[in-house]
Amino acid sequence: MSSALDRYGVVGHPVSHSLSPFIHAMFARETGQAMSYRPFDVRPEDFETRVREFFADGGLGLNVTLPHKVAAAELADELTERAAHAASVNTLAFEDGRLLGDNTDGAGLVRDLCDNLGVVITNRRMLIIGAGGATRGILAPLLGLEPTAVVIANRTPERAAALAAAFADLGVTQGAGFEDIAPEPFDVIVNATSASLSGDIPPIPAEAIGPDSVCYDLAYGRAASAFVQWATRLGCARAEQGLGMLVEQAAESFRLWRGVRPATAQVLAALRERAG
Ligand code: ATR
Repeated sequence: MSSALDRYGVVGHPVSHSLSPFIHAMFARETGQAMSYRPFDVRPEDFETRVREFFADGGLGLNVTLPHKVAAAELADELTERAAHAASVNTLAFEDGRLLGDNTDGAGLVRDLCDNLGVVITNRRMLIIGAGGATRGILAPLLGLEPTAVVIANRTPERAAALAAAFADLGVTQGAGFEDIAPEPFDVIVNATSASLSGDIPPIPAEAIGPDSVCYDLAYGRAASAFVQWATRLGCARAEQGLGMLVEQAAESFRLWRGVRPATAQVLAALRERAG
């Protein structure tokens, strides 16, 4: 006798490049969960209708990726605290007849930085480059680790100042333009801009990167290579791309849906092998 699988998926536009179906299929196998996980390419104008249809039809959970994360936060009946802080949602779960919106991006970054890479954030100075949705998604979990200060630097300084003010209740934050960054090394530098997509490197002073600095690009693959290569050339302690964050945020979503947190090392190794 066959029973229908519990249904999950990822909704984005475009979505064909998404690694999430591969990641969640591996998680499901590893934890013995009977579930399916499919990509759904949905245009912004169809987002609300398609998501409501998916859940009305018995779907249990969706990951949400660009460009729908803010729309997902508006659609959810209830937000977790971290999703409310981020004002964006990357995970929707149907629970007790209500649509819960969560954001696991920041937790995924923290897991990768602290657990996988052994980076210390507490009492360290951080620089986050960029002040868009990606930065908003990671600030609360990072500030929860109590860094000495987080400087948010952005091409448009007003956006950085606004984000610094919005998160000032959670820790020491400071907004800046690129030219305002003091020319002294930060302990941890996170690139959260979309500049790498076009091969650009944000013009932060080279002195911000020292021999003990850890540099991390939230993007992965080709999109992260310009920043990672630049930071490596400047002699940082290490420069990493965000593939580990991708796997860790997925594991957090999986845990929310299934109540079990999958191990991530094997999945990360498999993705690294695929990437060659
Ligand atoms: P996301 O959700 O990926 O953060 P976003 O909200 O559009 O997307 O934000 C993109 C970020 O990348 C912004 O901080 C943007 O700077 P501005 O606020 O000045 O637009 C930054 N960014 C994009 N292209 C850039 C470039 N070529 N150089 C520097 N920063 C760039």
